[in-house]
Amino acid sequence: MSSPGNDQNARRLFLALWPEDAERQQLAALAARVAGRRRTPDANLHLTLVFLGATDPARLTAYEAALADFTPPTLELTLDRYGYWPQSRILWLGSSHTPLELYELVAALHQRLRGCGFVPERRAFQVHITLARKHPGPAPVEPPVVPIHWRINTVALVESLRQGAGSIYQVVRRWPAG
Ligand code: 2AM
Repeated sequence: MSSPGNDQNARRLFLALWPEDAERQQLAALAARVAGRRRTPDANLHLTLVFLGATDPARLTAYEAALADFTPPTLELTLDRYGYWPQSRILWLGSSHTPLELYELVAALHQRLRGCGFVPERRAFQVHITLARKHPGPAPVEPPVVPIHWRINTVALVESLRQGAGSIYQVVRRWPAG
């Protein structure tokens, strides 16, 4: 098996929950209220499940084969709290009640990808949607007035492409929920 990024053709990839228009609009409205100057562009708002990193074509083929018959469950996620990570200076939106099924979804993805040589990050998965980077902090004290109820029915494979000083994200493929 090849190493993940030993190729000039390596693509920077991640698996994510990718909001549909309605949820994206709600997330964008919320970010506009709290996130300040370094706010995540509306089109980039997403929830990372598994960061794959630089992935060469052989490795991508293996990942796609491992996920060929993957059917994610339908999930309900309530986004009702803010958080701030001072080290990475990230302001994020998260959930005070992450459903068990979401942890199970991440574990199922890890399990399939491990067979292709993928090594999951050691830090535990934590639900977060990055609202701003290089944010001075702290997170707003008050939680969102109206929580966002997100009915999740797709897992997406997304490519991060450099554009100027930032990145744009492009959905490469989707796995609809069963
Ligand atoms: P985020 O989920 O905190 O916003 C593309 O880079 C996406 O993968 C971003 O959403 C990014 O951070 C997430 N990600 C997770 N782990 C990462 C890592 N080790 N390096 C870069 N991005 C990572």
